[in-house]
Amino acid sequence: MSELILDVQNLEASYGPVRVLHGVHFTVRTGEIALLLGANGAGKTTTLRAISGSVSASGSVTLQGTSILGMSPSNVAKAGIAHVPQGRGTLTELTVEDNLLAGAINRKDRPAVAAEVREWYERFPVLGKRRTQLAGLLSGGEQQMLAIARAMMGKPALLMLDEPSLGLAPKIVGEIFSIFSEINKSTGTSMLVVEQNAEIALAIADCGFVLEVGRTVLEGPASDLQSNPEVQHAYLGGDIAR
Ligand SMILES: Nc1ncnc2c1ncn2[C@@H]1O[C@H](COP(=O)(O)OP(=O)(O)O)[C@@H](O)[C@H]1O
Ligand SMILES: [Mg+2]
Repeated sequence: MSELILDVQNLEASYGPVRVLHGVHFTVRTGEIALLLGANGAGKTTTLRAISGSVSASGSVTLQGTSILGMSPSNVAKAGIAHVPQGRGTLTELTVEDNLLAGAINRKDRPAVAAEVREWYERFPVLGKRRTQLAGLLSGGEQQMLAIARAMMGKPALLMLDEPSLGLAPKIVGEIFSIFSEINKSTGTSMLVVEQNAEIALAIADCGFVLEVGRTVLEGPASDLQSNPEVQHAYLGGDIAR
């Protein structure tokens, strides 16, 4: 049994007077890919924001046993969590290369950083070819590759991805998810992925959690969720809850 990298309990958060998280709980084991499912408005993005310190919240969030709730976003990042936000995880006004270097801003091992930038160009040759171009000129799929490479340049213990497939063509979605799986296996980086393409995401995830109106209502190994009638009805097959 591997140990926990992330432990979230009784998480509550509000925007002004409106409470949107009413008790979210889940855990992520070290080295695993965890999937956060839920209809639009269920509180998935707010949950990631609460973990990364960009929305204030109460309850308990621990990373490798250390409480991180109440930390600033930059201190959460230094503690080891990279957050690729919904929509866009790239700095569109910077070049591809400057995006990768920005991802390594907290690192002091400059020679290793330069070597890793070259490794990412080998893994994603399109990024190498376009390294001097502005990130905003890349296609959606290329921007998502850059977003994950940029996040990985910070050597996070936990990578959080918010709807990485949003706006991408179905064929690219499958490619992006096999890249996540490959990076997870080759680097051992734990991942927490919010995704509405439940079928593709459950295929690479180890475990999953379902949020409904700001609460965890279901949790289990990915294989249990795949065969769960409620999950099948809401997130798999034709009847997609969006
Ligand atoms: N900045 C905001 N200000 C006020 N309400 C918000 C804000 N962002 C999200 N909400 C509300 O919080 C709830 C949860 O939203 P969100 O976490 O974005 O859900 P999800 O990512 O699951 O679609 C929704 O009712 C949404 O309308
Ligand atoms: Mg969202």
